[in-house]
Amino acid sequence: MSGRVITGRTKVLAVLGNPIAHSLSPPMHNAWLAAAGIDATYVALPIEGDVFAALPSFGLYGANVTVPHKERAAAIATQRDEAVARLGAANVLRFGPNGVAAFNTDAPGFVASLDEAAPGWRDRVKTALVIGAGGAARAIAWGLAAAGVEKLLVSNRTEARALEVCAVCPRAAPWPWAYLGDAFAKADLIVNATSLGLAGGPSPDWPIEAAAPHALVVDAVYKPLETPLLAQARARGLATVDGLGMLIHQGALAFEIWFGVKPDTRAARGLLNELLARG
Ligand code: ATR
Repeated sequence: MSGRVITGRTKVLAVLGNPIAHSLSPPMHNAWLAAAGIDATYVALPIEGDVFAALPSFGLYGANVTVPHKERAAAIATQRDEAVARLGAANVLRFGPNGVAAFNTDAPGFVASLDEAAPGWRDRVKTALVIGAGGAARAIAWGLAAAGVEKLLVSNRTEARALEVCAVCPRAAPWPWAYLGDAFAKADLIVNATSLGLAGGPSPDWPIEAAAPHALVVDAVYKPLETPLLAQARARGLATVDGLGMLIHQGALAFEIWFGVKPDTRAARGLLNELLARG
């Protein structure tokens, strides 16, 4: 018989979200589990919010949590890491006899993706522009602040949400959406953390001509891998980082939390590139 045999002892992990069928986490984690020879399986569960409180009694070993449940995940935890405590959102849960531990690996995962794709960025980036103020933007802004970036500008269409991000993020200040071009000019690092450009959806004509020649341009969107922002940046000769690294590194940090093993992030990129190319 080939392949893994799932028995009554096999640990079950899941990504919880709604919708969730599009998630790349199951193939990524199952490949890592197989490579590490761990008797566990990872599935996608499209659960509703009202079952969340019962989650600790499902018998899951661990979970990733995505839209729209990250705040609920933080709320059911009995232990929270610093990012979860500050942001009120968790993307990783570990279930155990002593309760539910919650972690936010989106923030360090974003930073790890920069470390991998743009080594030396920490020395070059003094001012970063984070565009957006949803869950992704919040984690990215927090991750950059925790990594020691001196100044964070947060620009969002709805300014009240940018103010909320700045309230939880050290060294962050809101920047008016109408003057985004001026923020592009000031930033050594520009990150799109909105859903603009996702899956061929609308994307503005970004003021990329205002960016400094040394600016590093990053998109949290990975579908498509080359977003309109990254295409504009590349056309201007700027260095770019795509959104796949954040997905892979938040997952790798989760895997390490559950199993104490660092998985192969390069192999994951190969697999996910292949799956994304298939559409
Ligand atoms: P997530 O938690 O996945 O980051 P979200 O909370 O829905 O998702 O946030 C989406 C982000 O994209 C927000 O910053 C949103 O701006 P608003 O706060 O003003 O809604 C931004 N966004 C989405 N569509 C946009 C558009 N057409 N123009 C500008 N910003 C947009």
